[in-house]
Order: sequence, then structure tokens, then C-alpha cells
Amino acid sequence: MTSSEIRQKFLDFFASRGHQIVPSSSLVPGNDPTLLFTNAGMVQFKDTFLGDEQRDYNRATSSQRCVRAGGKHNDLENVGYTARHHTFFEMLGNFSFGDYFKRDAIKYAWEFLTVELGLPAEKLWITVFEDDSEAESIWLEEMKIDPSRFSRLGEKDNFWSMGDTGPCGPCSEIFYDHGEDVPGGPPGSPDEDGDRYIEIWNLVFMQYEKKADGSMTPLPKPSVDTGAGLERVAAVMQNVHSNYEIDLFQDLLKAISTITGVDDLNNNSLKVIADHIRSCSFLICLLYTSDAADE
Ligand code: GLY
Repeated sequence: MTSSEIRQKFLDFFASRGHQIVPSSSLVPGNDPTLLFTNAGMVQFKDTFLGDEQRDYNRATSSQRCVRAGGKHNDLENVGYTARHHTFFEMLGNFSFGDYFKRDAIKYAWEFLTVELGLPAEKLWITVFEDDSEAESIWLEEMKIDPSRFSRLGEKDNFWSMGDTGPCGPCSEIFYDHGEDVPGGPPGSPDEDGDRYIEIWNLVFMQYEKKADGSMTPLPKPSVDTGAGLERVAAVMQNVHSNYEIDLFQDLLKAISTITGVDDLNNNSLKVIADHIRSCSFLICLLYTSDAADE
């Protein structure tokens, strides 16, 4: 399945479940001095989560172009050196603005992965926030997840916020196990940073607004914000271990190899260049516009 097909399948799946398909917004968020670049699918919906903006729909889905090159959620030092980190990437997301909450967010994600994409349940690993017994019981008792592939983790891993301020809440993450020939341990284990277990989808149960003084106030309505990395899902569906081996990177890596004379497409520097070219290109063409610039 090509990346393009995965993107379309995701949008169609959520559209057929009452979600409005919303175009990717600009890489520079409008009217938001707290962020330099759009770093997640929820950024264009920030004011809707906070109750400051009304939309004529309460469910949305998007494939948002994101850049993470500094500030919160930044993995710059890992880019090119792991199978999964990028400065530029696309985030598939479904959003509920005071409509459905944990149960449906979990059900939709599980159905999309195991039915639409046909991923085996035994290749998936689930985490929830350590205090979130409600999400735990939905996964274990209703979705019948095997408890041996489930963990409760703390704030660092399972409490998501957009930045130093803004909407936030506990989250539940879904990991894909790339198999024992890839180094790394399950989430929460000492070697979790390896590339074996890769987070492919984060379901955020938006409940609070974080203020500059660190205090948290409840949002007007509990909401949902999810983010699935298109490149990571594509690696799974294309049966490769690294995002740099997916269709979106192949022509780019080959061209860089020709120009630099470096034949090994696994060379980390080639991957860094490929990643940064994607970021620069999309930043230049999408700095002030959300106009489609599909590959
Ligand atoms: N907004 C959810 C995420 O970026 O993981």
C-alpha cells in the first residue's frame, strides 16, 4: 500500500464515520505566538478545543504536515539516526470537539488498524496514562487486549500537551512491534528507545488547558485529538523497518546518492539530507499557505 493510499484510506474511514475532512493547515500557525511551526494535527483546532471558536462540525479528520525542529516534541538529534524520527512528517488525525471521547477514539483506532489495515493484534502494544483506569478498562475489558502487551506509563510518556501552554490531557499510545531482529524493548522498558517497538498512533483525551503558570483548568467539553505518523504507518504496511525505506523517500535518497557519490542508501547522512530537504521544501512552499502540494 503506498503512502498516498494509506492517507486516503484514513481520511475515508473517518469521513464515513461522520468526520469532516479538513485540509492540512499552514506550517506556520496563524495567530499563535506560542509555536514557531505547526507540530501536530491539533494545532489548527486549538481554539476549538478551548471553546473560543465554534465550527459547524464536531468531528474532523486531516493529514497535517508538521515540522518538529525545536521546542516541545522535538527529536532533532535523532533525525537520520533512528528508523522513525523526522523534522518534517505528516500526521494523520481524527478529532472530536466535545462529541465522542475515550471509548469511540479507542474503538475507531483499533478498527482502522486491525480491520482496515489488517494488522495482527499480536503485533500491537498499548500504553495508557498511569492514572487512567477508564482507558485501561476499555482496552482490556472491551477491546480484549492481551494484558501482556499493555502498560501504564507516567506523565513523560502518556500525558500530552501541545506546548508550554494550551490544550492537554492523558493519552494512550499504540506501538507496532517490528520483530525481534530489531534492537529495542517494549514501552516502559529500559531499552524502549530502540526501533523495535514504534509508536504509530497517539490518542489524546483532551481534558485541560495548561496555563503559563503551570495550572490546568478543565476544557469546556472533553475532546479527542489523535496523531498517527503517516511515514511510520507506511513502514509497517510496506513491510520495512525504517521510515527511510518507504516509497516517499526512495527517489529522494537515490538522487542524493547520485549527487554525493555515496552509494549506501543506509548512510545516516543521506537520511539527514533527505529529511531536511523535505522540511525545507515544504516550509518554502507552505509557509503562508495550506494549498495542497502533494507529492
Ligand atoms: N496531538 C497528538 C500527538 O501529536 O501525538
